Amino acid sequence: MRRFLVVFLVLTACTSTVSTTTAPEQTTSGSIADSVPEQLTTTTALIGIEASNGIGDDFYPGLGNSGYDVEHVTLDLAFDPLGPRISGVATFEAVATDDLASWSVDLSTVFASEVLVDGEPALFEQTSGELRVIANQPIPEGADFRMAVTYGGQPIPFTSAGAPFATGFHESEDGWYALSEPDGASSWFPSNDHPLDKSTYTVSVTVPNPLVAVSSGRLEGVESDRDFSTFVWEVEQPVASYLLAFAVGDFEREDSDVVDGITIRNYFDSDLTARERQIFASQGAMIQYFSTVFGDYPFDVYGALVLETSDVGTALETQTISTFGRQVLFLGDSVVAHELAHQWFGDSVSITQWRDIWINEGFATYAQWLWSEHDSGITNRDLEIVQAYEVMSGAIFVRNDTNANAAATIAAEQFPPPGLVNSDDLFNTSVYLRGGLTLHALRLELGDEAFFELLRTYAGELAYGNSSTEIFVAYAEEAAGRDLTDFFQGWLYDEQMPPIPELGLEPLR
Ligand code: TRP
Ligand code: ZN
Repeated sequence: MRRFLVVFLVLTACTSTVSTTTAPEQTTSGSIADSVPEQLTTTTALIGIEASNGIGDDFYPGLGNSGYDVEHVTLDLAFDPLGPRISGVATFEAVATDDLASWSVDLSTVFASEVLVDGEPALFEQTSGELRVIANQPIPEGADFRMAVTYGGQPIPFTSAGAPFATGFHESEDGWYALSEPDGASSWFPSNDHPLDKSTYTVSVTVPNPLVAVSSGRLEGVESDRDFSTFVWEVEQPVASYLLAFAVGDFEREDSDVVDGITIRNYFDSDLTARERQIFASQGAMIQYFSTVFGDYPFDVYGALVLETSDVGTALETQTISTFGRQVLFLGDSVVAHELAHQWFGDSVSITQWRDIWINEGFATYAQWLWSEHDSGITNRDLEIVQAYEVMSGAIFVRNDTNANAAATIAAEQFPPPGLVNSDDLFNTSVYLRGGLTLHALRLELGDEAFFELLRTYAGELAYGNSSTEIFVAYAEEAAGRDLTDFFQGWLYDEQMPPIPELGLEPLR
């Protein structure tokens, strides 16, 4: 997936220490080639490539990076409310996927001050969201290497290319948090910021007492002295960078029962009322039910992280602990079921290209309806499905002064087919509602037995990896035992949504 590649010659057997450039406050000038120290002397030469600063996402070409695969990341961070807010070291254990002379890392709003590659200081420069690192000597394809980035600063939210909202690092009432989908992770730590390069993590966060630091995975331990506490979180299954949970605040941990061997622990902002906490009591029953329809829950812990902030009117399916803004809790079970279902669809089975976002959001939305069916019956489920169809078709826009044709036009303008979502409007309502309707229509097409078998096979075989629309369609065709080209064409790509005769639903024109 490399785009271009000017061959770049780097010489081995360099004995002198290569000096590093200093952390730029803004864009640095001068090309990397200009900054290669002259004292490099030669014996043998291995030719390495300048790896592309994008992993190959066709919506966001600068996102992620190629040339290497990250296997484990250790974030060792300290938060100081008085000084620079974040300082620390991110250490990548990675494998070169090419002979590598230089490569990029996504990093914005905070700045690198030192980069070590296999323990040796390396040259680097940081410009517009990319940290470019030059190896002292090329890293051969297939070799493991370790890169440690010392960085710091005052992280700020990041204007997403994918949607009109800020992603990444934010300040809350009494601390900080990160919600990074799709492209905000680089606002607070160096990453290969794309779901194609998932890795395990160790997240160690030191905060002033009595603040609490929360991340994904299992809490390995907490060490405290008089002034500070260090929380160490171990993420044992690979996680996409945007799904790494992160919050520092005034949290109370509440554990509930262990369900099917899964420990459920919640971190509630201490101001949360008992009623607000009660909303999460159904998580155990939901895990049990979703395990029957999607297959085993893919991780060993789950829970909710609930923030007090006026900035998040939504929730994000951060891995093993979904993050909720307090204002979204009025949605009750539907948002709780939605974020939980993403653990199978989005987190464990991730997409390969952001343009396939309908898979994540369609499944999470369909899971809300499945939970309604399970918890309150088919009639209630069908009410939700009919309502979603009427939003998508435009039927709900029909009023005295808006006829069916005009209403259909409004809907068509607002809601592109879910497979044709725009790159600057990734979370269009269509990927949720028409994505969910696509799955219900598929269930009607296949019958319950084949449909749920498909979900379990798909989630099981692709667990901890990546999928795509093509892959999902191939699994569906295998389950159906027939070609489904026309079915998916209609639901994912045609402007006009197909009918659902079983529910008496059809397009307005
Ligand atoms: N994936 C989220 C959901 O469950 C929506 C979302 C996308 C989001 N980007 C976000 C939420 C950034 C919070 C912050 O539907
Ligand atoms: Zn979602």
